[in-house]
Amino acid sequence: MSEVVYVDLKLTRHTLIERTDHAGDVDCQAEVGVKPRRCNPVIVVLVVLCVLLMGAVIGLQVLWNNNCPKHRACAIGWEYRWPSCYFFSNDTMNWTQSRDNCVTMGGHLVIIDSLLEQTFLDDKVGAVMIEDENKFWIGLTDSDKEDSWLWVDNTALEVTTSYWITLEPDNWKTDNPEGENCARMGEKGGTQNKRTWLDFNCKKPQRRICEAVSSA
Ligand SMILES: *[C@@H]1O[C@H](CO)[C@@H](O)[C@H](O)[C@H]1NC(C)=O
Ligand SMILES: *[C@@H]1O[C@H](CO)[C@@H](O)[C@H](O)[C@H]1NC(C)=O
Repeated sequence: MSEVVYVDLKLTRHTLIERTDHAGDVDCQAEVGVKPRRCNPVIVVLVVLCVLLMGAVIGLQVLWNNNCPKHRACAIGWEYRWPSCYFFSNDTMNWTQSRDNCVTMGGHLVIIDSLLEQTFLDDKVGAVMIEDENKFWIGLTDSDKEDSWLWVDNTALEVTTSYWITLEPDNWKTDNPEGENCARMGEKGGTQNKRTWLDFNCKKPQRRICEAVSSA
């Protein structure tokens, strides 16, 4: 049985080769049209790779379009700056009230952990400050233990990402015998060296910067 098939195949091949010698025959053109069906494996691989690549590109585009706006989503009145949302208040409250208000709004008083973030905030508050006392509370306090500065998530302030104005914090006691246990920031017009933090009387009303995770 298999021998018969083999012979048949040989015959077909032979006939095809013979017929291609007679281009011009109507018969022959029909047979020639069959030939390209034998695909070059290199071309097959290239076509498959192309299709896969296009699929990947389209898939990534769909993912990008679906996910990106979600990651950038901030509540109305909040400003997106990768990877967080920020709220800059116009109204003023003492530090404790400010801390609680940020939580009520779904965030926390800002935690600054990079020069990039400090630069963004310094430029931003510098631009919205109307006069020099128009500063903003940040989420940093040493109320529990003097000179042990903690962020509102209880992480310790790192020296490498501290942006105190020179000679601050000074725990100045004239205004409040308890000293100055809360941090505020801002220089009208921004600064060159980005050092804009001061310790201040926690009971005084200030504007505030809240930070929140950006989400859908
Ligand atoms: C604060 O006031 C400015 C200027 O009037 C306004 O553009 C901004 O939206 C206000 N911000 C908030 C959080 O109300
Ligand atoms: C902050 O303000 C609230 C509301 O006026 C007040 O109850 C609270 O005692 C104040 N806290 C401080 C530390 O001044």
